[in-house]
Amino acid sequence: MHLLVSPEIQEKLWKFTTKTSYRSDYLLQPKELGKKIDLKKSFPEEIQNFVLELGSGWGEVAIELASNDRQTGYLLMEKKVNRIIHTEKQRKTLGLENIRYMTVNFQWFFDELLEKEIFDKIIINFPDPWPKKKHRKNRLMQSQMLEQIYDLLKPGGKLIFATDYGPYARKTISLFRKFPKFVWEEKEYEFERPGFPVSFFETEKRNEGRRIYYLNRTKVK
Ligand SMILES: C[S@@+](CC[C@H](N)C(=O)[O-])C[C@H]1O[C@@H](n2cnc3c(N)ncnc32)[C@H](O)[C@@H]1O
Repeated sequence: MHLLVSPEIQEKLWKFTTKTSYRSDYLLQPKELGKKIDLKKSFPEEIQNFVLELGSGWGEVAIELASNDRQTGYLLMEKKVNRIIHTEKQRKTLGLENIRYMTVNFQWFFDELLEKEIFDKIIINFPDPWPKKKHRKNRLMQSQMLEQIYDLLKPGGKLIFATDYGPYARKTISLFRKFPKFVWEEKEYEFERPGFPVSFFETEKRNEGRRIYYLNRTKVK
């Protein structure tokens, strides 16, 4: 749990998290707090590599990646159920068996639900920027979250991050500089990312002429 809340509040958040009217065989619904989801059992048997996308939005990025790489399991965490329903329609149309969803708010419950060192890659594509000073505490990229992401990645695993909000990019770069367990390989940050799927959100920002910052990091072994 990321927020320092009382056990009563935690219980309320948990009840809210486990109560959803959305049903799908592709939805991984946590049942017991403290019990981790068995990813290998949640995907077809032949799938042994996993990617997590935090805040998958309408799902375009994961859908494209998953259809080009059907041997990898993609777990999408997105709190807005209508966005998951939209993604599910695309998944079904393409017949992809390597996608699963969690409608969990990752700022309420996160690493307590997922096994350590299970993901090859974690994607954070355009997280909410929270530009107002008083809201900055809500940003996903905080040192505690970085520790949790680190724990979930396999040694050598990759963290893929993008934002169009300069102050958030700069803050994240400085966060990484203080976190030597993640290293950059070719460049500390880039303004292009050829070959990676482009979401509706990204297209919109590009069309507005916004500069986009791409940050990739590798978990040191
Ligand atoms: C700006 S959108 C970007 C969506 C997508 N990654 C893309 O590139 O288009 C951020 C997404 O993160 C989701 N999100 C934000 N905070 C979240 C949280 N705490 N838990 C789960 N999803 C969250 C939002 O609902 C939204 O769909």
